[in-house]
Amino acid sequence: MKTNLIILLCSVAYALGDEVSDAIKDIVNNHNYRYVTFTVNDSATALKVEKKGDKSESLVDFINQLTNSEPRYFIYDFEYESNGSNKQRFLGICWAPDTSSIKRKMQYSSAVNVFKSAVKDVTGLRLVYATDVFELDYNSLFHIAERI
Ligand SMILES: *[C@@H]1O[C@H](CO)[C@@H](O)[C@H](O)[C@H]1NC(C)=O
Ligand SMILES: *[C@@H]1O[C@H](CO)[C@@H](O)[C@H](O)[C@H]1NC(C)=O
Repeated sequence: MKTNLIILLCSVAYALGDEVSDAIKDIVNNHNYRYVTFTVNDSATALKVEKKGDKSESLVDFINQLTNSEPRYFIYDFEYESNGSNKQRFLGICWAPDTSSIKRKMQYSSAVNVFKSAVKDVTGLRLVYATDVFELDYNSLFHIAERI
């Protein structure tokens, strides 16, 4: 049992890589970015950091930079107001637009577990599965963040 666990942890750490774990620390612990964008490599076994969104970017800026042809994973620092007080929650967004190719969609769905393992230690993170931009508007994210 113990040996299996160690092997599992090692392989997860290996699959993440320094660049990915540093980017996760930067957004989660240091709040340096609005979002971090991840791609998966061709065998869908490892994440790569593609982009780090500036803290000044709004949700609209974020939505505008999404592509309709390319799935992506994101960690998004969602700041919102609820019942008169400011709140914050990290969202793990799996973006797989309907219009992307079958091959890409399969690649990204098979890498969902790689993404989940990358974000498993982010306190309070909620996963968001979106295939269309309307699923990422403020109200949708608000409901997910507040679990209404
Ligand atoms: C994807 O990344 C993993 C982990 O670094 C590596 O073992 C695998 O060979 C890579 N696949 C491709 C096609 O680059
Ligand atoms: C909003 O805040 C008020 C005052 O703190 C509290 O009494 C009320 O229950 C809260 N409502 C919700 C929906 O959380």
